[in-house]
Amino acid sequence: MDIGNLRREYHQGSLRRVGLRKDPFDQFELWFNQACDSDITDPNAMSLATASKNAHPTVRTVLLKYFDRDGFVFFTNLESTKARQIADNSSVSVLFPWLALVRQLIIEGNAEKISTTEALKYFIKRPRGSQLGAWVSKQSSIVSSRVMLEMKYKEIKQKFAQAEIPLPSFWGGYRIRPIQFEFWQGQPNRLHDRFRYTRKSNGLWEIERLAP
Ligand SMILES: Cc1cc2nc3c(=O)[nH]c(=O)nc-3n(C[C@H](O)[C@H](O)[C@H](O)COP(=O)(O)O)c2cc1C
Repeated sequence: MDIGNLRREYHQGSLRRVGLRKDPFDQFELWFNQACDSDITDPNAMSLATASKNAHPTVRTVLLKYFDRDGFVFFTNLESTKARQIADNSSVSVLFPWLALVRQLIIEGNAEKISTTEALKYFIKRPRGSQLGAWVSKQSSIVSSRVMLEMKYKEIKQKFAQAEIPLPSFWGGYRIRPIQFEFWQGQPNRLHDRFRYTRKSNGLWEIERLAP
């Protein structure tokens, strides 16, 4: 297959300054709702980039679980590679790849751990299997085999058979507080629309069009 020939023209609506919401959270909500109303699988999946102290970057998918004007929240293992990197360097970036709508949305900001109370509020709503999975997985560490993982799952399942599953101390969430958003809409002839919102010291957002 000639990968170099894999391309398509983009004709799915445009993004004009006049139609932009002044507040990037409002613009995010609009696009997020449109992604949810489309056929996109996992519209809340976002690529999360973190970097170590030595500026070594890592990227992986996580699920956005809720958002408001305080930021964007995801849940994970607090001893994972991403968690260790965030502890060293709280600057992160996330990207929503809404390719079916010819859109990408990039957010840059700082990640901070949410409180145990807030994490618990979400944890208790998770399906029991996911709660058990959180206990089983020492995320990002090396495991000898799948059999070991499944044995540990059975053990934990028995241990908590008669009880509610407690929140593991090593499981929780992060809130990304945005400092910048970029909304990208594909256009014909590679003249794509890109708008960047940057938060100013007075709390207002500056909107600039970027070259594609
Ligand atoms: C669709 C999808 C959703 C995922 N959602 C999460 C998530 O919400 N939290 C999480 O910790 N890992 C999630 N993962 C797994 C991560 O991509 C990653 O493998 C894991 O968090 C370990 O990353 P790390 O070793 O860089 O810390 C998801 C993967 C996929 C493909």
